[in-house]
Amino acid sequence: MSFLKELQRRRTFGIISHPDAGKTTLTEKLLLFGGAIQEAGAVKNNKIKKGATSDFMEIERQRGISVATSVLAFIYKDKKINILDTPGHKDFAEDTFRTLTAVDSVIVVIDVAKGVEEQTEKLVQVCRMRKIPIIVFINKLDREGKDAFDLLDEVEQKLGLRVTPLSFPIGMGYDFKGIYNIWEKKLNIFSADKKQTVSKGIEFSDLEDPELDKVIGEKSANTLREELELIYEVYPSFDKSEYLKGDLQPVFFGSALNNFGVKELLDCFTEIAPTPQPKKAEERLVDSKENKLTGFVFKIHANMDPKHRDRLAFVKIVSGTFKRNAPYLHVRNNKKLKFSSPNAFFAEKKEIVEESFPGDIVGLHDTGNFKIGDTLTEGEILNFKGIPSFSPEHFRYVNNADPMKSKQLQKGLEQLMDEGVAQLFTLELNGRKIIGTVGALQYEVIQYRLEHEYGAKCSYENLPMHKVCWVQPENSKNEEFKEFKRVKQRYLAKDKQGQLVFLADSAFTIQMTQSKYPSVKLHFTSEFE
Ligand code: G4P
Repeated sequence: MSFLKELQRRRTFGIISHPDAGKTTLTEKLLLFGGAIQEAGAVKNNKIKKGATSDFMEIERQRGISVATSVLAFIYKDKKINILDTPGHKDFAEDTFRTLTAVDSVIVVIDVAKGVEEQTEKLVQVCRMRKIPIIVFINKLDREGKDAFDLLDEVEQKLGLRVTPLSFPIGMGYDFKGIYNIWEKKLNIFSADKKQTVSKGIEFSDLEDPELDKVIGEKSANTLREELELIYEVYPSFDKSEYLKGDLQPVFFGSALNNFGVKELLDCFTEIAPTPQPKKAEERLVDSKENKLTGFVFKIHANMDPKHRDRLAFVKIVSGTFKRNAPYLHVRNNKKLKFSSPNAFFAEKKEIVEESFPGDIVGLHDTGNFKIGDTLTEGEILNFKGIPSFSPEHFRYVNNADPMKSKQLQKGLEQLMDEGVAQLFTLELNGRKIIGTVGALQYEVIQYRLEHEYGAKCSYENLPMHKVCWVQPENSKNEEFKEFKRVKQRYLAKDKQGQLVFLADSAFTIQMTQSKYPSVKLHFTSEFE
């Protein structure tokens, strides 16, 4: 198959949701359609149960599993579909943000009873910022939930989306009769049978057809007719180019657990979802059709085998063909590297591959060369953008608890930060090290991993900070910047890249500082124009 054909058949996306909305269940059903797995239950759930005291041991146990489920690929209707796993747990939100830099589109899963939840809001906000095309799947229609129109309103208001339903439920919960597929003008009758993999659907291009009354009853048929009329009146009709620009979001309804409405979602997805997209580098825009290889690391997974401290770097291919044993330039290190056993991912397995194409993810064995955000090319100096660090929300001083092991501690911290487990800041004033995380759970993970993988011990000291702001001094008035540095010196630190950050103890402090030194720009992410 030609390079262009390979590229055009790829669809790389992520499923995002608040925990428990049904992401794992949906993923599994999608894999069933692709024939990639034979039975339900094959996809392990990576989620960490809320409040469990053994949370972080659980992470340890699951880390092995999540390598396998980091990328799940399958073929459906001749399309190569790559699903990138995104942890739903809020403490791992940063991991999810980074994964979103490697997807070309997303499916958002919403629980019909709970509606739009906190984590969904945050993640969708990131997608909107990047104009990532979104399809919404409203799940658990077999249960009582919110009214479908109210939910559509909620999705529009809370998520700031402009929706157009492409399917619509007939009843809900106990009364759930099925779904009218607006996209294909077909009716699917619900039967609570988990084995149902393909529901044929009855075609109803004309809703006035009296057959409809026979199939779902006169009352439901009339309600459906009225509701569809309203939909056609109120919501914009579907327009693929608007969807691809991130300006219009189609909505599907269904029940992942019952495998109902999932095929409709997948059929539409394969037809409309974007092929691998161009990506901005600092130097230029790289088109996926270019034949020279480029790619970037968006995730690093460590310690698959505790005896060898090797890691797997996940590279998203942006352009060209990735070939086994070919020399590629690691741009940041200015070093040529060859990979003799690049992994590709298929369903829940990984295997060595000779070639991969744009949209694909390859897993490269790494002994410490890679950092998140690193770029690989055939020789061109390129640095892909769009993998910023976000301001952490928890801060602690990290102290060495075993003076004999300070080297190990330093190395361990450095590698864990390269993996993106947390962020390290060094205070300008006295060189003290501060670890910033999105969730409190990471501190336990770091402590545990430092001890078990690096033989180092650390202790923490609380630091009640609100956020860090990355400081952009470039266009600031010299005097003002000097004054800012002098007054705030106790709160200034450097991040791992050596960028200057300001530690603020409250939102008010940020506001005050910004108004006092207006030419010194403060940012909540490490990357800015
Ligand atoms: P997540 O990955 O988004 O966290 O959610 P997951 O798929 O694990 O689903 C969360 C719970 O919701 C699971 O139940 C799952 O069985 C259930 N679920 C998913 N889709 C549907 C649906 O369409 N209808 C109904 N009624 N339930 C659904 P659980 O009891 O937490 O887990 P389990 O013991 O069933 O695995």
